[in-house]
Amino acid sequence: MPVYCITGTNRGLGLEFVRQLAADADTTIIAGTRSLDGDLSDLRAISGPAKIHILACDTSDPESVRRFASEAKSILGAANLQVDFLLNNAGIRVNVIGPAKTVEFLNAESLLSANVRIVNFTSGLASMSESLGAEGNTFRQCCTYSISKAGLNMLAVHQSGDLRKKAGLTGAVVIVVDPGWVRTRMGGPNAVLEPHQSIAGVLNVVHGLTDKDNGSFYLYDGTQKPW
Ligand SMILES: NC(=O)c1ccc[n+]([C@@H]2O[C@H](COP(=O)([O-])OP(=O)(O)OC[C@H]3O[C@@H](n4cnc5c(N)ncnc54)[C@H](OP(=O)(O)O)[C@@H]3O)[C@@H](O)[C@H]2O)c1
Repeated sequence: MPVYCITGTNRGLGLEFVRQLAADADTTIIAGTRSLDGDLSDLRAISGPAKIHILACDTSDPESVRRFASEAKSILGAANLQVDFLLNNAGIRVNVIGPAKTVEFLNAESLLSANVRIVNFTSGLASMSESLGAEGNTFRQCCTYSISKAGLNMLAVHQSGDLRKKAGLTGAVVIVVDPGWVRTRMGGPNAVLEPHQSIAGVLNVVHGLTDKDNGSFYLYDGTQKPW
């Protein structure tokens, strides 16, 4: 009975996660979306057999994230379930605070399983090594976006230690994943991957995670990225 909790599921990569995970009847999905008043037609059109619970979660608003955690607790607690996979997908102006508060409030509700896998969605642009590149090249791109995703990377490094040592989740594995350049509203029409390709790869990475991967930086295809 795996439980997935995903933010930003009304479109783009978050929506694709729900599409792919919905195929398994044993799966429970907590699908966070900024507002229940927005256009959720694509998300609502996904029919099980997985159990899909659509909840409001504006990751820029700590009160909204707190309510989300509390509502998730009501749903999962009734079935004695916890979150096995947390996919911090929502972006773009919420790159650091969103994943930080989502982990904080889900943990405060004792909703993260002892072996939880937490995936924070970063970007290749956040790699310091790749951004530095070779002397004289133009690798330094998308200044504010890359800085915020680099902040997210450091958040994940802290989460990978704190959840084990301070929260007692001794088997927790926290990583950052670059989904590649994907054709979504954010990635734009010239991107090189379709959402289904990127997310199939990310799910392979997520399902193959072992203890030693804690604090790693992966590309969607399972190759390690340099910090
Ligand atoms: N696509 C790429 O090429 C690419 C490359 C590298 C990294 N990424 C990362 O992958 C993740 C998903 O990107 P994407 O391509 O799917 O982007 P997208 O198509 O623009 O979708 C972004 C999603 O995040 C949600 N979101 C934004 N702010 C939110 C908030 N405050 N609260 C809740 N949800 C919020 C959006 O909801 P609304 O509809 O309500 O705005 C939407 O569902 C992001 O973290 C992005 O930085 C993407």
